[in-house]
Amino acid sequence: MTPLLALDKLRRAFYGLEVLRGVTFTVAPGTITGLIGPNGAGKTTLFNVVSGLVPPDAGSIAFEGREIAGLSPDAVSRAGLVRTFQVARGFPRLSVFQHLMLYGRDQPGESLWHAVLGTRAARQREEELAERAWETARFLKLDRLIDNPATALSGGQKKLLEIGRALMAEPRLVLLDEPTAGVNPTLRNELGEHLLVLQRRGITVLLIEHDMGFIASLCNPVIVMAEGRVLTEGTFDQVTADARVREAYLGQRAA
Ligand SMILES: Nc1ncnc2c1ncn2[C@@H]1O[C@H](COP(=O)(O)OP(=O)(O)OP(=O)(O)O)[C@@H](O)[C@H]1O
Ligand SMILES: [Mg+2]
Repeated sequence: MTPLLALDKLRRAFYGLEVLRGVTFTVAPGTITGLIGPNGAGKTTLFNVVSGLVPPDAGSIAFEGREIAGLSPDAVSRAGLVRTFQVARGFPRLSVFQHLMLYGRDQPGESLWHAVLGTRAARQREEELAERAWETARFLKLDRLIDNPATALSGGQKKLLEIGRALMAEPRLVLLDEPTAGVNPTLRNELGEHLLVLQRRGITVLLIEHDMGFIASLCNPVIVMAEGRVLTEGTFDQVTADARVREAYLGQRAA
């Protein structure tokens, strides 16, 4: 099958220190692919590069067969590749509803169409967006909180809102960086359920996580990164049985 995302020999250094040292892997459509590895392996940096926040020094990023390396974060997300960001960042006073609308509105050619077609089309689009915001809130069980300011949400609910915002952009691939960090076990299970629903809806997920139970129950395949490279890839059981993977994690503990 043609990969949805294909990374080839991606490199990135900061102040002469190589953090990504030739990262090559693919993400197949329809998967929840796990990305694991010890602290400092370069996982978040890889997301920064793929999402357009940080340009790569070398290498290629093909999304649906199209080269996207060097595109701006906006252009990448318009192409259908979206990553989540912390809700607390940005606009803390906006309500849950406003947060969802803000992301849905950021669609290709949106403002241009409004300018060309005038207010009727704009109003219709706005109504569709509001409908989608409600649907997303209901899906994530945030509908009761829809008029609350985002700051009033619990840590776990903020995580759900982050995912909701990503969904409003109608992505084909979502990048999630440690979605369960600081989330209680009940909400963590719900998060897992949500990811499975996304998968059934045809959205592909690439997930960084340190919670091995979460990875084991959701992800196939699992890709292991260490020291800026892919160490191995396979099912959760395969990669955790790999001596090199154990060594990489042990090396971290000894450090
Ligand atoms: N903008 C930057 N400037 C300088 N160094 C950076 C920058 N971004 C990342 N690094 C360095 O890259 C290395 C890898 O960091 P990264 O956050 O990608 O690791 P990670 O695999 O996500 O780790 P963790 O599991 O702890 O989140 C670290 O040594 C970090 O200090
Ligand atoms: Mg990280």
